[in-house]
Amino acid sequence: MTTDFSSWSNELLIRTESALEHYLPNAGNAPVRLHAAMRYAVLGGGKRIRPLLAYAAGEACETDPARVTAAACAVELIHAYSLVHDDMPCMDNDVLRRGKPTCHIEFDVATALLVGDSLQSLAFEILSARIEGIDAAQQLNMIKLLATASGSHGMAGGQAIDLDSVGASLTLPELEFMHIHKTGALIRAAVMLGANCGNSRTEAELSGLDHYAKCLGLAFQVVDDILDASASTNDLGKTAGKDAEQNKPTYVSLMGIADARLLARSLHEEAMTALDPYTHNLRLRQLADIIVQRTC
Ligand code: IPE
Ligand code: IPE
Ligand code: MG
Ligand code: MG
Ligand code: MG
Repeated sequence: MTTDFSSWSNELLIRTESALEHYLPNAGNAPVRLHAAMRYAVLGGGKRIRPLLAYAAGEACETDPARVTAAACAVELIHAYSLVHDDMPCMDNDVLRRGKPTCHIEFDVATALLVGDSLQSLAFEILSARIEGIDAAQQLNMIKLLATASGSHGMAGGQAIDLDSVGASLTLPELEFMHIHKTGALIRAAVMLGANCGNSRTEAELSGLDHYAKCLGLAFQVVDDILDASASTNDLGKTAGKDAEQNKPTYVSLMGIADARLLARSLHEEAMTALDPYTHNLRLRQLADIIVQRTC
């Protein structure tokens, strides 16, 4: 029997929250300030879109959610680290994240730097520990996938381009390159990690899934740009209007909000079409709807 989306996602959000809670170091253990800050940055907030995408891709590849949990948490920890660093004074200099003071405001800049470092290491510690039902070669492939998506050819590379682009006028292909890296890479990794936890698929199926993830990863940042320009700080839980204030090239600054919305819609459509080879694709479809229609 197919359950509705909110029952499906609630169950997996609870599973994700309790796994993250379990994986994170106890705040009572030394060094207590760093451990408290790691927990602050990860727990109690965030939409957990990347873990949900990993579970949904696992479902499309007919695997049990228990096999996906380590990968789902690993990608969320990398994402949380990227947010902590993104907010630091040397990057976007933000004071609000997930409705709370940013990590460097609540703690201090040096602690926030170390939180990012430690969350990244923790992600790989989790992904390299034995996962029941996944063979070593498959797991090694997953570690490589997440490492590439996180580094200079993925998220960190995209962030470098973002910082270099302040005040610059990028062409559309340059902007797409930046967004595919800074945000798309981890979204894509979430989907492909989930798929890797499942039964082996044909090349055509995997490339369909990868194309879905690529379109959705880009759509995610297009929508983030739109929301930065149109939603309230209260709804977003982070400071609205920062992109224009900091003179960042975005889809809104380049093509205007109406065309950015059209682009998000067309990427959504392309993502949906790419799922055609899969039978168990309901959750991936629902998540694509949520990513494009979201208001925060
Ligand atoms: C925000 O990501 C940063 C981007 C990559 C655009 P999310 O919108 O997924 O942030 P949380 O995890 O829900 O806080
Ligand atoms: C952030 O992009 C991407 C990463 C954190 C890798 P933004 O700088 O637009 O994200 P927000 O708007 O601060 O969440
Ligand atoms: Mg940024
Ligand atoms: Mg930012
Ligand atoms: Mg943004």
